[in-house]
Amino acid sequence: MLDTPNSSTLAHTATSDSPDFSVPIVLGMIGLGTVGTGVYKILSRRTDLVFHQIAVRSLKKERDLPGLDSERLTDNAKSIVSDPAIQVVIEVMGGVDEARPLVIEAFKNGKHVITANKELIAKHGAELFDLAKARNVRLMFEGAVAAGIPIIMPLKLSLAANNILEIAGILNGTTNYMLTQMAEENWNYEEALLQAQKKGFAEADPTSDVGGHDAAYKISILASIAFKKRIDMKHVYCKGITSVTATDIQLAESLGYTIKLIGLCRQAEAGQLDIRVHPVLVEHDHPLASIKNENNAIWIKGDAVGDVMFYGKGAGEMPTASAVCADLLAVTTDLHKGNDPIPSMEIETTGFANILPVTETKNKYFVRLHTADHPGVIGLIGTACGEFGVSLESIVQHGIHEEDGTASIVFITHELAEKQMLKALDKIKADPAIQKLGCVLRIL
Ligand SMILES: NC(=O)c1ccc[n+]([C@@H]2O[C@H](COP(=O)([O-])OP(=O)(O)OC[C@H]3O[C@@H](n4cnc5c(N)ncnc54)[C@H](OP(=O)(O)O)[C@@H]3O)[C@@H](O)[C@H]2O)c1
Repeated sequence: MLDTPNSSTLAHTATSDSPDFSVPIVLGMIGLGTVGTGVYKILSRRTDLVFHQIAVRSLKKERDLPGLDSERLTDNAKSIVSDPAIQVVIEVMGGVDEARPLVIEAFKNGKHVITANKELIAKHGAELFDLAKARNVRLMFEGAVAAGIPIIMPLKLSLAANNILEIAGILNGTTNYMLTQMAEENWNYEEALLQAQKKGFAEADPTSDVGGHDAAYKISILASIAFKKRIDMKHVYCKGITSVTATDIQLAESLGYTIKLIGLCRQAEAGQLDIRVHPVLVEHDHPLASIKNENNAIWIKGDAVGDVMFYGKGAGEMPTASAVCADLLAVTTDLHKGNDPIPSMEIETTGFANILPVTETKNKYFVRLHTADHPGVIGLIGTACGEFGVSLESIVQHGIHEEDGTASIVFITHELAEKQMLKALDKIKADPAIQKLGCVLRIL
């Protein structure tokens, strides 16, 4: 599979009807980590695609890949994007600062690019698609959102006849694994994170996962496709799972809900887009409630199709490589036919989305309070809520905290604007009978 291209063989004689697989397409790959290794393993089965060079950060690292010729490795990624022999560049190094100029240079040199880099597409997709279009090359990124789950092409093509009304996704396997274990094993956050790291689901630095940023990149990409607007990441509300407790998970479960980290986008009133990432309570009978452990799922509501859900492995070596290689084959099949690849994954947008501030969003809420254990507390909560138009669906006392003798009161509201909820909570917190606001979570 690692081969030196013979430039005389690169000129295709095939017609658009008869792909000629005897002439290999020449590839360069930047990155041979988790995803790059998977890509290498899949492509090592093929003779019609050959790696000319693979860039890594360290040439000294041991790499147990059969057939890998160390002569093909380089620590100079620039040499890949400028090598005239390379037709397609696979960017699986990650990050933005180094990856963006490399991808731009690859386009300038007439190369197609396949990437799994969600941060790059979420932050710079519009610029890169413009450049790719100007240079008549392709940029493909199926692996960037939910890895092995096909979602970009289905959203762009299979659901093209729909007005998309809403997308809600479990888009991060690390946090879904942690929340599942906290619910099923009653682990606290720290135990769940440690186990996720031991199983290889969480990075040594898990900030992007547990802080919700990884999910925010992914929902922004999906929103830009579904709603045809550019998304300025600065305006995407993003809250992770670091303050979710096993207590709240157990209480939510007892009330018929499971807690999930969800990336959400939906059309709001007045042309605004409601897009955000945060933990939510999901009713047990919602399809997303059944998605466990490191799995991902994307639930989409279209005006014609109704509800559809895409489910599978949202991370990992082979699932991500499956998507990257599918993109590669889409491009190389056209190249084998001697055709210019069609820019099928281009994100077409008309300006920036007007993003609804989170305080203007409407939600149902789950609230847990520590209160004095005496009569009248439930009444004062009801009165404060009533003053700000907060209508309660249920309110229940859940035992006494042994350590301080406070009562735990949980209430669930009907749907209302977040700013109303905040005003009611300010009033509730100001009452001397309320010792502590334990938790406030939105309900899907
Ligand atoms: N892992 C997943 O499950 C997954 C899922 C979906 C999308 N993605 C995306 O796929 C991309 C790659 O992720 P990954 O998990 O495979 O990362 P990774 O395991 O950290 O691998 C990164 C690779 O890039 C190489 N590299 C880093 N900086 C480089 C530089 N300046 N020049 C040349 N090579 C460089 C590293 O070289 P060394 O080997 O020498 O360190 C390594 O081989 C990221 O954009 C990520 O968001 C990952």
